[in-house]
Amino acid sequence: MPEFIVTPWEVRGKIDYDKLIRDFGVKQINRELLEKLREFSGDLHLFLRRNLFFAHRDLDKILNDYENGKEFFLYTGRGPSGHTHIGHLVPWIFTKWLQDVFNVDLYFQITDDEKYLVKRKNFDEIQGYVKDNLLDIIAVGFDPDKTYIIINTRHISYLYKIAVEIAKRITFSTAKAVFGFEDSSNIGIIFFPALQAAPCFLPCYLKGKKINCLIPAAIDQDPYWRGVAREIAIKLGMPKPAQIHSKFIPGLGKHGKMSSSEPETCIFTTDGEEDVKRKIWNAFTGGASTVKEQREKGGRPEICMVYQYLFYLFEEDDRKIEEIKQKCKNGEILCGECKEYLAKKVVRFLKEHQKRREKAKDKIEDYMIDKIKTAL
Ligand code: TYM
Repeated sequence: MPEFIVTPWEVRGKIDYDKLIRDFGVKQINRELLEKLREFSGDLHLFLRRNLFFAHRDLDKILNDYENGKEFFLYTGRGPSGHTHIGHLVPWIFTKWLQDVFNVDLYFQITDDEKYLVKRKNFDEIQGYVKDNLLDIIAVGFDPDKTYIIINTRHISYLYKIAVEIAKRITFSTAKAVFGFEDSSNIGIIFFPALQAAPCFLPCYLKGKKINCLIPAAIDQDPYWRGVAREIAIKLGMPKPAQIHSKFIPGLGKHGKMSSSEPETCIFTTDGEEDVKRKIWNAFTGGASTVKEQREKGGRPEICMVYQYLFYLFEEDDRKIEEIKQKCKNGEILCGECKEYLAKKVVRFLKEHQKRREKAKDKIEDYMIDKIKTAL
Protein backbone atom coordinates (compact mmCIF):
# COMPACT_ATOMS: atom_id res chain seq x y z
CA MET A 1 0.00 0.00 0.00
CA PRO A 2 1.45 3.44 -0.90
CA GLU A 3 1.81 5.84 2.04
CA PHE A 4 -0.35 8.43 0.34
CA ILE A 5 -2.48 8.85 -2.78
CA VAL A 6 -3.21 12.02 -4.75
CA THR A 7 -5.54 11.76 -7.75
CA PRO A 8 -8.39 14.04 -8.93
CA TRP A 9 -10.85 11.69 -7.21
CA GLU A 10 -8.97 10.54 -4.15
CA VAL A 11 -6.54 12.21 -1.75
CA ARG A 12 -5.45 10.06 1.17
CA GLY A 13 -2.66 9.63 3.74
CA LYS A 14 0.16 11.87 4.92
CA ILE A 15 1.25 13.71 1.81
CA ASP A 16 4.94 14.13 1.00
CA TYR A 17 4.94 17.26 -1.18
CA ASP A 18 8.61 16.94 -2.14
CA LYS A 19 7.88 13.50 -3.53
CA LEU A 20 4.87 14.87 -5.42
CA ILE A 21 7.08 17.51 -7.02
CA ARG A 22 9.37 14.76 -8.28
CA ASP A 23 6.63 12.31 -9.26
CA PHE A 24 4.46 14.86 -11.09
CA GLY A 25 7.43 16.71 -12.61
CA VAL A 26 6.37 20.17 -11.39
CA LYS A 27 8.76 22.87 -10.16
CA GLN A 28 9.00 24.38 -6.71
CA ILE A 29 8.10 28.09 -6.49
CA ASN A 30 11.52 29.54 -5.69
CA ARG A 31 12.63 32.88 -4.23
CA GLU A 32 13.29 34.38 -7.66
CA LEU A 33 9.75 33.65 -8.81
CA LEU A 34 8.31 35.06 -5.59
CA GLU A 35 10.32 38.26 -6.15
CA LYS A 36 8.99 38.47 -9.68
CA LEU A 37 5.41 38.12 -8.39
CA ARG A 38 6.13 40.77 -5.79
CA GLU A 39 7.21 43.18 -8.54
CA PHE A 40 3.73 42.96 -10.05
CA SER A 41 1.70 42.85 -6.87
CA GLY A 42 3.54 45.00 -4.32
CA ASP A 43 2.76 42.63 -1.46
CA LEU A 44 2.79 38.85 -1.74
CA HIS A 45 -0.40 37.03 -0.86
CA LEU A 46 -0.32 35.13 2.46
CA PHE A 47 -0.67 31.83 0.58
CA LEU A 48 2.60 32.56 -1.23
CA ARG A 49 4.43 33.88 1.83
CA ARG A 50 3.54 30.73 3.78
CA ASN A 51 4.32 28.38 0.88
CA LEU A 52 0.75 27.06 0.61
CA PHE A 53 1.04 27.62 -3.15
CA PHE A 54 4.27 25.72 -3.55
CA ALA A 55 4.69 24.41 -7.10
CA HIS A 56 4.13 25.43 -10.70
CA ARG A 57 4.61 24.72 -14.35
CA ASP A 58 5.64 27.57 -16.66
CA LEU A 59 4.58 30.32 -14.27
CA ASP A 60 7.92 32.00 -15.09
CA LYS A 61 7.02 31.92 -18.77
CA ILE A 62 3.55 33.42 -18.15
CA LEU A 63 5.11 36.30 -16.18
CA ASN A 64 7.87 36.95 -18.74
CA ASP A 65 5.34 36.95 -21.57
CA TYR A 66 3.08 39.28 -19.57
CA GLU A 67 5.99 41.66 -19.03
CA ASN A 68 6.48 41.67 -22.78
CA GLY A 69 2.85 42.59 -23.38
CA LYS A 70 1.38 39.11 -23.94
CA GLU A 71 -1.92 38.68 -22.11
CA PHE A 72 -3.07 35.59 -20.20
CA PHE A 73 -6.31 34.37 -18.65
CA LEU A 74 -7.05 32.39 -15.50
CA TYR A 75 -8.90 29.09 -15.40
CA THR A 76 -10.13 27.22 -12.32
CA GLY A 77 -13.14 25.19 -11.24
CA ARG A 78 -15.34 23.17 -8.92
CA GLY A 79 -16.88 19.69 -9.01
CA PRO A 80 -20.21 20.15 -7.20
CA SER A 81 -20.48 16.97 -5.15
CA GLY A 82 -21.25 18.57 -1.79
CA HIS A 83 -21.21 21.80 0.17
CA THR A 84 -18.17 24.04 -0.14
CA HIS A 85 -15.57 23.84 2.63
CA ILE A 86 -12.79 26.28 3.41
CA GLY A 87 -10.22 24.08 1.59
CA HIS A 88 -12.07 24.70 -1.69
CA LEU A 89 -11.93 28.44 -1.07
CA VAL A 90 -8.10 28.40 -1.10
CA PRO A 91 -7.58 28.26 -4.90
CA TRP A 92 -10.54 30.58 -5.46
CA ILE A 93 -9.36 33.27 -3.03
CA PHE A 94 -5.93 33.08 -4.62
CA THR A 95 -7.41 33.24 -8.12
CA LYS A 96 -9.28 36.42 -7.16
CA TRP A 97 -6.00 37.91 -5.96
CA LEU A 98 -4.36 37.06 -9.30
CA GLN A 99 -7.35 38.51 -11.17
CA ASP A 100 -7.03 41.77 -9.22
CA VAL A 101 -3.24 41.99 -9.59
CA PHE A 102 -3.13 41.28 -13.33
CA ASN A 103 -6.61 42.52 -14.28
CA VAL A 104 -7.31 39.44 -16.38
CA ASP A 105 -10.27 37.28 -17.43
CA LEU A 106 -11.24 34.19 -15.46
CA TYR A 107 -13.00 31.11 -16.83
CA PHE A 108 -14.55 29.06 -14.03
CA GLN A 109 -15.76 25.54 -14.85
CA ILE A 110 -18.39 23.69 -12.81
CA THR A 111 -18.13 19.98 -13.61
CA ASP A 112 -21.59 18.74 -12.67
CA ASP A 113 -21.19 16.00 -15.29
CA GLU A 114 -17.97 14.73 -13.67
CA LYS A 115 -19.54 14.47 -10.23
CA TYR A 116 -22.65 12.76 -11.57
CA LEU A 117 -20.39 10.23 -13.30
CA VAL A 118 -18.15 9.43 -10.30
CA LYS A 119 -20.41 9.83 -7.26
CA ARG A 120 -23.38 7.81 -6.10
CA LYS A 121 -25.64 10.85 -6.38
CA ASN A 122 -28.58 11.53 -8.65
CA PHE A 123 -28.72 14.40 -11.09
CA ASP A 124 -31.06 16.55 -8.98
CA GLU A 125 -28.79 16.31 -5.96
CA ILE A 126 -25.82 17.45 -8.03
CA GLN A 127 -27.84 20.37 -9.45
CA GLY A 128 -28.70 21.38 -5.87
CA TYR A 129 -24.96 21.58 -5.12
CA VAL A 130 -24.36 23.57 -8.32
CA LYS A 131 -26.77 26.26 -7.04
CA ASP A 132 -25.29 26.19 -3.57
CA ASN A 133 -21.63 26.22 -4.68
CA LEU A 134 -22.29 29.11 -7.08
CA LEU A 135 -23.06 31.33 -4.09
CA ASP A 136 -19.65 30.53 -2.58
CA ILE A 137 -17.85 31.13 -5.87
CA ILE A 138 -19.51 34.51 -6.38
CA ALA A 139 -19.02 35.42 -2.69
CA VAL A 140 -15.25 35.23 -3.25
CA GLY A 141 -15.63 38.50 -5.14
CA PHE A 142 -14.50 37.87 -8.73
CA ASP A 143 -14.95 40.74 -11.17
CA PRO A 144 -18.30 40.08 -12.95
CA ASP A 145 -17.09 41.91 -16.07
CA LYS A 146 -14.11 39.60 -16.38
CA THR A 147 -15.47 36.28 -15.07
CA TYR A 148 -17.19 33.57 -17.11
CA ILE A 149 -18.72 30.61 -15.29
CA ILE A 150 -19.28 27.49 -17.36
CA ILE A 151 -21.67 24.85 -15.99
CA ASN A 152 -20.84 21.84 -18.14
CA THR A 153 -24.33 20.43 -18.70
CA ARG A 154 -25.81 23.90 -19.32
CA HIS A 155 -23.04 25.45 -21.43
CA ILE A 156 -21.78 22.41 -23.30
CA SER A 157 -21.98 24.21 -26.66
CA TYR A 158 -18.99 26.34 -25.58
CA LEU A 159 -16.87 23.27 -24.90
CA TYR A 160 -18.00 20.38 -27.03
CA LYS A 161 -16.16 21.13 -30.27
CA ILE A 162 -12.87 21.67 -28.42
CA ALA A 163 -13.42 18.56 -26.28
CA VAL A 164 -13.96 16.44 -29.39
CA GLU A 165 -10.76 17.78 -30.95
CA ILE A 166 -8.93 16.85 -27.75
CA ALA A 167 -10.59 13.45 -27.33
CA LYS A 168 -9.66 12.41 -30.87
CA ARG A 169 -5.99 12.86 -30.00
CA ILE A 170 -5.90 11.05 -26.62
CA THR A 171 -5.82 7.25 -26.69
CA PHE A 172 -7.56 5.06 -24.14
CA SER A 173 -4.19 3.67 -23.19
CA THR A 174 -2.91 7.17 -22.27
CA ALA A 175 -6.10 7.91 -20.32
CA LYS A 176 -5.72 4.61 -18.44
CA ALA A 177 -2.10 5.37 -17.56
CA VAL A 178 -2.87 8.91 -16.37
CA PHE A 179 -6.18 8.38 -14.55
CA GLY A 180 -6.14 4.67 -13.72
CA PHE A 181 -9.33 3.88 -15.67
CA GLU A 182 -10.33 0.24 -15.76
CA ASP A 183 -12.65 -1.96 -17.84
CA SER A 184 -15.33 -1.31 -15.23
CA SER A 185 -15.04 2.52 -15.55
CA ASN A 186 -18.10 4.06 -17.18
CA ILE A 187 -17.52 5.54 -20.63
CA GLY A 188 -18.66 8.99 -19.50
CA ILE A 189 -15.73 9.45 -17.16
CA ILE A 190 -13.32 8.18 -19.82
CA PHE A 191 -14.38 11.06 -22.10
CA PHE A 192 -14.59 13.58 -19.27
CA PRO A 193 -10.88 14.62 -19.13
CA ALA A 194 -11.32 16.16 -22.59
CA LEU A 195 -14.03 18.40 -21.10
CA GLN A 196 -11.89 19.55 -18.19
CA ALA A 197 -9.02 20.29 -20.61
CA ALA A 198 -11.25 22.25 -23.04
CA PRO A 199 -11.43 25.59 -21.14
CA CYS A 200 -7.60 25.80 -21.34
CA PHE A 201 -8.13 26.73 -24.99
CA LEU A 202 -11.64 28.23 -25.01
CA PRO A 203 -10.59 31.92 -25.12
CA CYS A 204 -8.24 31.10 -28.01
CA TYR A 205 -11.18 29.66 -29.95
CA LEU A 206 -13.54 32.49 -28.96
CA LYS A 207 -11.09 35.27 -29.82
CA GLY A 208 -9.29 33.56 -32.68
CA LYS A 209 -5.80 34.08 -31.27
CA LYS A 210 -3.29 32.33 -29.02
CA ILE A 211 -3.68 33.38 -25.38
CA ASN A 212 -1.71 31.98 -22.44
CA CYS A 213 -3.63 30.17 -19.70
CA LEU A 214 -2.74 29.98 -15.98
CA ILE A 215 -4.55 27.47 -13.76
CA PRO A 216 -4.55 27.95 -9.97
CA ALA A 217 -5.67 24.73 -8.19
CA ALA A 218 -4.57 22.25 -5.55
CA ILE A 219 -2.19 19.66 -6.91
CA ASP A 220 -4.82 16.87 -7.16
CA GLN A 221 -5.96 18.35 -10.49
CA ASP A 222 -2.51 17.99 -12.05
CA PRO A 223 -3.20 14.82 -14.12
CA TYR A 224 -5.61 16.80 -16.31
CA TRP A 225 -2.89 19.26 -17.25
CA ARG A 226 0.11 16.94 -17.25
CA GLY A 227 -1.58 14.05 -19.04
CA VAL A 228 -4.06 15.77 -21.34
CA ALA A 229 -4.07 19.56 -21.75
CA ARG A 230 -0.33 20.14 -22.10
CA GLU A 231 0.14 17.13 -24.39
CA ILE A 232 -2.70 18.20 -26.62
CA ALA A 233 -1.68 21.86 -26.77
CA ILE A 234 1.25 21.01 -29.02
CA LYS A 235 -0.96 18.96 -31.32
CA LEU A 236 -3.58 21.74 -31.52
CA GLY A 237 -0.94 24.44 -32.05
CA MET A 238 -2.04 26.20 -28.83
CA PRO A 239 0.04 27.52 -25.89
CA LYS A 240 0.63 24.90 -23.19
CA PRO A 241 -1.45 25.85 -20.13
CA ALA A 242 0.60 26.83 -17.06
CA GLN A 243 -0.26 25.93 -13.46
CA ILE A 244 0.22 27.19 -9.94
CA HIS A 245 -0.44 24.46 -7.39
CA SER A 246 -1.41 24.58 -3.73
CA LYS A 247 -1.05 22.01 -0.99
CA PHE A 248 -4.22 20.73 0.69
CA ILE A 249 -5.76 22.29 3.74
CA PRO A 250 -5.96 19.29 6.07
CA GLY A 251 -9.06 18.22 7.94
CA LEU A 252 -9.18 18.99 11.64
CA GLY A 253 -8.45 15.32 12.40
CA LYS A 254 -5.04 13.66 12.47
CA HIS A 255 -4.38 13.06 8.76
CA GLY A 256 -5.76 13.70 5.32
CA LYS A 257 -7.13 16.65 3.40
CA MET A 258 -10.31 18.43 4.42
CA SER A 259 -13.15 16.42 2.96
CA SER A 260 -16.95 16.84 3.01
CA SER A 261 -17.29 13.11 3.65
CA GLU A 262 -15.94 13.73 7.17
CA PRO A 263 -18.15 16.64 8.25
CA GLU A 264 -16.92 16.87 11.86
CA THR A 265 -13.33 17.55 10.74
CA CYS A 266 -14.40 19.87 7.96
CA ILE A 267 -15.43 23.54 8.16
CA PHE A 268 -18.18 24.31 5.69
CA THR A 269 -18.79 27.84 4.45
CA THR A 270 -22.32 27.63 5.85
CA ASP A 271 -21.31 26.49 9.35
CA GLY A 272 -22.65 28.56 12.26
CA GLU A 273 -20.74 29.76 15.31
CA GLU A 274 -21.57 26.70 17.41
CA ASP A 275 -20.49 24.25 14.66
CA VAL A 276 -17.16 26.04 14.28
CA LYS A 277 -16.48 26.11 18.02
CA ARG A 278 -17.37 22.42 18.44
CA LYS A 279 -15.28 21.25 15.48
CA ILE A 280 -12.25 23.28 16.49
CA TRP A 281 -12.61 22.20 20.11
CA ASN A 282 -12.33 18.57 18.94
CA ALA A 283 -9.40 19.21 16.58
CA PHE A 284 -6.18 17.19 16.67
CA THR A 285 -3.48 19.29 18.33
CA GLY A 286 0.17 18.93 19.27
CA GLY A 287 -0.62 19.26 22.97
CA ALA A 288 0.62 16.95 25.74
CA SER A 289 -1.77 14.67 27.61
CA THR A 290 -1.83 16.74 30.82
CA VAL A 291 -1.58 20.47 31.53
CA LYS A 292 1.39 19.83 33.80
CA GLU A 293 3.29 17.94 31.11
CA GLN A 294 2.53 20.61 28.52
CA ARG A 295 3.72 23.40 30.82
CA GLU A 296 6.96 21.47 31.37
CA LYS A 297 7.69 20.03 27.92
CA GLY A 298 5.70 22.32 25.63
CA GLY A 299 3.48 21.43 22.63
CA ARG A 300 4.28 20.43 19.04
CA PRO A 301 2.96 23.06 16.60
CA GLU A 302 4.37 21.13 13.62
CA ILE A 303 1.72 18.41 14.02
CA CYS A 304 -1.09 20.63 15.34
CA MET A 305 -4.09 21.30 13.09
CA VAL A 306 -5.03 24.45 15.00
CA TYR A 307 -1.57 25.86 14.34
CA GLN A 308 -1.72 24.79 10.66
CA TYR A 309 -5.01 26.66 10.19
CA LEU A 310 -3.57 29.78 11.78
CA PHE A 311 -0.36 29.49 9.79
CA TYR A 312 -1.87 28.90 6.36
CA LEU A 313 -5.16 30.75 6.56
CA PHE A 314 -6.06 32.85 9.56
CA GLU A 315 -3.03 34.57 11.11
CA GLU A 316 -1.60 37.04 8.61
CA ASP A 317 0.78 38.68 11.07
CA ASP A 318 4.22 37.05 10.73
CA ARG A 319 5.39 38.16 14.17
CA LYS A 320 2.22 36.90 15.85
CA ILE A 321 2.39 33.46 14.24
CA GLU A 322 6.04 33.12 15.28
CA GLU A 323 5.10 34.15 18.81
CA ILE A 324 2.33 31.52 18.94
CA LYS A 325 4.78 28.87 17.76
CA GLN A 326 7.42 29.75 20.34
CA LYS A 327 4.94 30.07 23.21
CA CYS A 328 3.45 26.70 22.33
CA LYS A 329 6.87 25.03 22.24
CA ASN A 330 7.78 26.62 25.59
CA GLY A 331 4.57 25.52 27.25
CA GLU A 332 3.50 29.15 27.77
CA ILE A 333 0.16 28.69 26.00
CA LEU A 334 -2.19 25.75 26.11
CA CYS A 335 -4.34 24.25 23.36
CA GLY A 336 -7.57 25.69 24.73
CA GLU A 337 -6.32 29.26 24.25
CA CYS A 338 -5.21 28.58 20.67
CA LYS A 339 -8.51 26.90 19.84
CA GLU A 340 -10.49 29.86 21.11
CA TYR A 341 -8.26 32.28 19.20
CA LEU A 342 -8.70 30.31 15.95
CA ALA A 343 -12.45 29.82 16.43
CA LYS A 344 -12.95 33.59 16.79
CA LYS A 345 -11.08 34.24 13.56
CA VAL A 346 -12.94 31.52 11.65
CA VAL A 347 -16.35 32.73 12.88
CA ARG A 348 -15.52 36.30 11.85
CA PHE A 349 -14.37 35.13 8.40
CA LEU A 350 -17.46 32.96 7.86
CA LYS A 351 -19.91 35.69 8.94
CA GLU A 352 -18.50 37.99 6.25
CA HIS A 353 -18.50 35.21 3.67
CA GLN A 354 -22.09 34.30 4.52
CA LYS A 355 -23.23 37.92 4.05
CA ARG A 356 -21.62 37.91 0.61
CA ARG A 357 -23.29 34.54 -0.14
CA GLU A 358 -26.67 36.14 0.54
CA LYS A 359 -25.91 39.03 -1.79
CA ALA A 360 -24.67 36.61 -4.48
CA LYS A 361 -28.22 35.24 -4.93
CA ASP A 362 -29.19 38.17 -7.18
CA LYS A 363 -25.97 38.21 -9.17
CA ILE A 364 -25.63 34.67 -10.52
CA GLU A 365 -26.60 35.37 -14.12
CA ASP A 366 -24.07 38.25 -14.36
CA TYR A 367 -21.29 35.66 -14.18
CA MET A 368 -22.54 33.04 -16.63
CA ILE A 369 -20.58 32.46 -19.82
CA ASP A 370 -23.70 32.80 -21.97
CA LYS A 371 -23.28 36.57 -21.69
CA ILE A 372 -20.84 35.83 -24.56
CA LYS A 373 -23.30 35.18 -27.33
CA THR A 374 -21.14 33.27 -29.80
CA ALA A 375 -21.09 29.66 -28.68
CA LEU A 376 -18.72 27.63 -30.83
P1 TYM B 1 -13.05 20.02 -6.56
O1 TYM B 1 -14.46 20.44 -6.49
O2 TYM B 1 -12.68 18.68 -6.02
O3 TYM B 1 -12.16 21.09 -5.84
C1 TYM B 1 -12.27 22.48 -6.14
C2 TYM B 1 -10.90 23.12 -5.97
O4 TYM B 1 -10.47 23.01 -4.62
C3 TYM B 1 -9.20 22.34 -4.55
N1 TYM B 1 -9.23 21.62 -3.28
C4 TYM B 1 -8.52 21.99 -2.20
N2 TYM B 1 -7.62 22.98 -2.02
C5 TYM B 1 -7.02 23.09 -0.80
N3 TYM B 1 -7.32 22.27 0.24
C6 TYM B 1 -8.21 21.26 0.12
N4 TYM B 1 -8.49 20.47 1.15
C7 TYM B 1 -8.86 21.09 -1.15
N5 TYM B 1 -9.79 20.23 -1.64
C8 TYM B 1 -10.00 20.57 -2.93
C9 TYM B 1 -9.12 21.51 -5.81
O5 TYM B 1 -7.80 21.26 -6.21
C10 TYM B 1 -9.82 22.43 -6.81
O6 TYM B 1 -8.92 23.40 -7.29
N6 TYM B 1 -12.54 18.50 -11.35
C11 TYM B 1 -12.46 19.65 -10.47
C12 TYM B 1 -13.24 20.86 -11.00
C13 TYM B 1 -12.48 21.62 -12.05
C14 TYM B 1 -11.28 22.34 -11.85
C15 TYM B 1 -10.95 22.90 -13.13
C16 TYM B 1 -10.49 22.58 -10.73
C17 TYM B 1 -12.82 21.75 -13.36
N7 TYM B 1 -11.91 22.52 -14.02
C18 TYM B 1 -9.81 23.69 -13.28
C19 TYM B 1 -9.36 23.36 -10.87
C20 TYM B 1 -9.02 23.91 -12.14
C21 TYM B 1 -12.97 19.28 -9.08
O7 TYM B 1 -13.71 18.33 -8.92
O8 TYM B 1 -12.55 20.13 -8.07
